[in-house]
Amino acid sequence: MEEMSIAPRDLRDWIARVDAIGQLRRITEPVSRNEEMGAITYLAHQEIGAPALLFEVIRDTPKGFRALWNPIGSSVDRFALAIGEPTGLGVMELVQRCKTKFSTPIPPVVVEREGVPVNENHLHDDKVDLRGFPAARHWAGDGGEYIGTCDAIITRDPDGGWLNVGTYRQMVQGKNQVGLYLSPGKDARLHIERYWSRNEPCEVVMCWGIDPALFIAASQTFPKTVSELDFVGGILGRPVELVKGERTSLLYPAHVEIAAEGVIAPGSQKLEGPFGEFTGYYGRPEDYAFLVDVKAVHHRDNPILTHALMADYPANECALLYAVARSARIWNDLDRLGVPGIKGVYAHPAAAGGFGMTVVSLEQRYAGHAPQVLALAAQVPGGAYYAKWIIAVDEDVDPSNTNQVIWAMATRCNPVEDIDILRQTWSTWLDPAQNPPEERPYGSKALVNACMEHRHIKDFSRRTKVRRSVYESVSGRWRELGFTGTPPKLWSLQD
Ligand SMILES: Cc1cc2nc3c(=O)[nH]c(=O)nc-3n(C[C@H](O)[C@H](O)[C@H](O)COP(=O)(O)O)c2cc1C
Repeated sequence: MEEMSIAPRDLRDWIARVDAIGQLRRITEPVSRNEEMGAITYLAHQEIGAPALLFEVIRDTPKGFRALWNPIGSSVDRFALAIGEPTGLGVMELVQRCKTKFSTPIPPVVVEREGVPVNENHLHDDKVDLRGFPAARHWAGDGGEYIGTCDAIITRDPDGGWLNVGTYRQMVQGKNQVGLYLSPGKDARLHIERYWSRNEPCEVVMCWGIDPALFIAASQTFPKTVSELDFVGGILGRPVELVKGERTSLLYPAHVEIAAEGVIAPGSQKLEGPFGEFTGYYGRPEDYAFLVDVKAVHHRDNPILTHALMADYPANECALLYAVARSARIWNDLDRLGVPGIKGVYAHPAAAGGFGMTVVSLEQRYAGHAPQVLALAAQVPGGAYYAKWIIAVDEDVDPSNTNQVIWAMATRCNPVEDIDILRQTWSTWLDPAQNPPEERPYGSKALVNACMEHRHIKDFSRRTKVRRSVYESVSGRWRELGFTGTPPKLWSLQD
């Protein structure tokens, strides 16, 4: 295990650390922006833990402009390096550490514009031309080239003044315009709608090559009244450095690869999509999305554009990201509500990029405790969006161990008594199970109580467990007994 407590300075520092542990693959053969980088990523990422891909020579792109695909991918170690933690941690240990970092926000600071990395190059007004950046058509049916997928989009709350940061896709709409897709209920969408209701434009900063800590915070649902920038600071253990915008009143991070300033005029929309989405399906058909006029682009020399492929697991960039960060968010929300006895939360990465299923492990302390946890885990801000399956298991079940969870569902759940349904819940236009598509974006959720029946908990059949003293004795003699490697860790033992 490599102890590394200081979080990376920027994307390039993180790439160097990832390279040092053999988790980066550089591709120096020329590739096309049109489906090829997407296809290569999908193929290379069929294997769990596959390296991040850095495409160094991209056709129809200026020499030196590069593209990094699936930075975190399905690698626990790459996530750990992003938040300044050591490699070699188990996924539940990483969830715990991420949870602690999310609880210690540090507000950003504003620094001088001159000399910061992102201000090495500028394009202003009619000099703006986005077509040189290595945007890409990820999937055959995509409606265009996407410049923003692994990104951070900054808007200002029109009333409160704080800066929201979200990860939202953008399609290139020509030389100096992009289409911005925002799902119902997302913070930037609520901002734009409020500016427009006053007939005012909405200013926006779009960061297109970002370090993974910014990505992690931008892609989580934090309370609507705080800035995600504070949580990036918490993850990094130091404040994010921002500089003043030139064409907007917004601020942008000094250490990103590319930051674009733009404006969304009242009523400005254009057809966008479809896009191969986190569900592993094309989302809604082509439809109207917010149209951003880009007024300035600031970028580093030889910038690296970050891309997130959306696909079935493990080739989905959302998946492990949400398995760790979304689980940490939900757990923090439950703690803040004062719910006792939570032993672990896990959003399974294979469930629609980590959005689809939440498993909570708890020590049942009172009648109704498990159903309470289910109802809250289903609807807390960190976990309410999309999730269809909310499963409660007892404390002796590791929520990240699929075999254990399925075992609990098959032995402790009595479907006729233990499944409840929530209806008309927060979802998206992208859910393929809601048909006809006009019925979207509402969803539903199944709450599955796979805990021992509380009424009979004292006389519930006893589970077979290995006695702790026996585990310690046999695991100490593991090699002697003829086994290789280390003995498996067991989540629960008999004391
Ligand atoms: C790679 C990736 C791409 C995403 N793309 C979109 C998108 O195009 N539109 C959207 O509304 N949400 C998208 N999301 C989900 C949002 O980033 C997420 O719900 C986040 O909480 C939004 O920020 P907000 O809570 O400040 O609105 C994406 C998430 C990830 C990880």
